[in-house]
Amino acid sequence: MSIAIKKSIRVLKNLMLEEGVYDLWLEADDMVADARPGQFVSLYCNDGGRLLPRPISICEIDRDKSSIRLVYRVLGKGTEEFSRLKTGDLIDCIGPLGRGFTLEGSKALLIGGGIGIPPLLELAKQLSCEKDIVLGYRDLTFLENDFKKYGNVYISTEDGSIGTKGNVIDAIKANNLTADIIYACGPTPMLKGVKEYAEVNHIKAQLSLEERMACGIGACLACVCQSTEVDHHTNVHNKRICKEGPVFYADEIVL
Ligand SMILES: Cc1cc2nc3c(=O)[nH]c(=O)nc-3n(C[C@H](O)[C@H](O)[C@H](O)COP(=O)(O)OP(=O)(O)OC[C@H]3O[C@@H](n4cnc5c(N)ncnc54)[C@H](O)[C@@H]3O)c2cc1C
Ligand code: FES
Repeated sequence: MSIAIKKSIRVLKNLMLEEGVYDLWLEADDMVADARPGQFVSLYCNDGGRLLPRPISICEIDRDKSSIRLVYRVLGKGTEEFSRLKTGDLIDCIGPLGRGFTLEGSKALLIGGGIGIPPLLELAKQLSCEKDIVLGYRDLTFLENDFKKYGNVYISTEDGSIGTKGNVIDAIKANNLTADIIYACGPTPMLKGVKEYAEVNHIKAQLSLEERMACGIGACLACVCQSTEVDHHTNVHNKRICKEGPVFYADEIVL
């Protein structure tokens, strides 16, 4: 595993996928060798007033072209600055960071909600087992055609405009989906629902958590979540999402 060092890397393209959602390819060179699905990179803003890096999950890894893909939603000033990046621009970046997904199981259920959907794409690509993929959106969809290359895709939307009306659990139940491993990434209420569903149905689950981050490299404790076991680093019931996560087994954490 390489040590995370800040590097200036080149933007290959940065296009709008859907209203407010951008598709960014970066020339990643040696970063791609270590990158795993579920890990993230921290991107720095050029505006000196915004010192903290912004964590963004790795959506795809292209080892042949030494590049990585990030898909992000414009939320505040940092991501708004990223949306203005042009081909050839340089951006400071650290990564790959954190613990990604462990590839296992013979029948997988991948569950993504909103901007938690992108990190599941590289996972879908790398998992060789049978897989169903459930994508939950509020209304506007993105990346669903990319996922169709790797498994059966089921969609839920809050307004029912596409797929099952409701949330990802409604889509799983409506389509009678079963698995021996669940991989999920999305907002905390969705992850709570997935954790409960996995427990009730005795399915092993790996959950990718999101929390506001500061350093992104395990130094500041800004990103802790509650853990079932006492953590050897802090001696209390918590784990750093940026370092021990963002991916945890469902029984390792309390949501
Ligand atoms: C492990 C991880 C992976 C992520 N992957 C993605 C992704 O693939 N695509 C995507 O669109 N978003 C992703 N996010 C959320 C993304 O980091 C925030 O939307 C982004 O940092 C917001 O920055 P901003 O300057 O636009 O917003 P502001 O609200 O102005 O940010 C202010 C500060 O708070 C931090 N912050 C705000 N919201 C979050 C958040 N949700 N998580 C962590 N830090 C936050 C920012 O990094 C910044 O330091 C991920 C977050 C984490 C923790
Ligand atoms: S963001 Fe600093 S320890 Fe995780």
